[in-house]
Amino acid sequence: MPSTIDQRRKQFEEALSNVRDVDDLSAVRDQYLGRKSGAIPALLKQMGALSPDARREFGQAVNELKGYVEAALERLSGELEERAEKARLERERLDITLPGLRPRFGHLHPITHMRQRIEAIFVAMGYTIEGGPEVETSFYNFDALNTPPEHPSREMQDTFYLSPDLLLRTHTSPVQIRAMQRRRPPLRIIAPGRVFRRDTPDPTHNPMFFQVEGLTVDRHIHMGHLRGTLQEFVRRLFGAELRTRFRPSFFPFVEPGGEVDYQCFVCLGDGCRVCKSSGWIELGGCGMVHPRVLQGVGIDPEEFTGFAFGLGIDRLTALIYEIDDIRLLFENDIRFLEQFGV
Ligand code: PHE
Repeated sequence: MPSTIDQRRKQFEEALSNVRDVDDLSAVRDQYLGRKSGAIPALLKQMGALSPDARREFGQAVNELKGYVEAALERLSGELEERAEKARLERERLDITLPGLRPRFGHLHPITHMRQRIEAIFVAMGYTIEGGPEVETSFYNFDALNTPPEHPSREMQDTFYLSPDLLLRTHTSPVQIRAMQRRRPPLRIIAPGRVFRRDTPDPTHNPMFFQVEGLTVDRHIHMGHLRGTLQEFVRRLFGAELRTRFRPSFFPFVEPGGEVDYQCFVCLGDGCRVCKSSGWIELGGCGMVHPRVLQGVGIDPEEFTGFAFGLGIDRLTALIYEIDDIRLLFENDIRFLEQFGV
């Protein structure tokens, strides 16, 4: 009988030496101490068949083995735990002396920043901000704006047509129509947004650019309101008393129509590189809303009058930041754009 016990001990030591982790360990524990089929309980069951003397001796030996097995399992379990803890600490090791990664800060695109400045000025003057689709129907882009079918700006070479009736809007003026259809006067809105024209790109032209439309409709609105509004806009944008001047011009949806210039903010009118020696810089088109446009949206031109203007946001941006080539604003080269970070 002692040989059986010695054999078991050897087998146990062998099994123990193959244990790699806690799962192995609990398998070995089951195998030796498990109540149902463990090797040691099985040995104890055999005792009943022995004579009392042999039983005592055998019992002692089995108990000794059991003590040995329990202690060995206990020891190895402790070791495994320690090893696991060490491995965990090693995995989670953190070198707090390593230099940190500095996050790159984003910033507004210069055109976005300019658009927000313009919006803030008009909002402070009581205007609300409107928007409209970039893909327009020819009705909104032309017809409703009193632009007859034979008008040259409808020509294929100026307009990107998506279908005979759908196009990329060539100006923000269609938002005037949408706003007047949605709301009744008194009306004060601005509409900033992208517009598209089939221009060959050069330092002052890009086939996609940004405008901000303005529209005021109320009783007794006259040219003086238009002039005063744009004069005040220029004063607030440049923070200086720059003069404005109005030149007659033609747009089918205004009568009279004009173009507005402001005194060069660099030379204050003396003439310099920025204003090309003229002392003046063009701000945009403007005029009194044509009675036919009002009629078209069901506003009585005998009761209401209005003024409208369309300013180029990119031009203002390029001038203020002294960017010589407007295309740079659309190439999205971060090395260029981040110089104007705000
Ligand atoms: N829509 C015109 C343009 O794109 C500008 C404009 C707007 C003119 C409003 C008069 C009134 O050139």
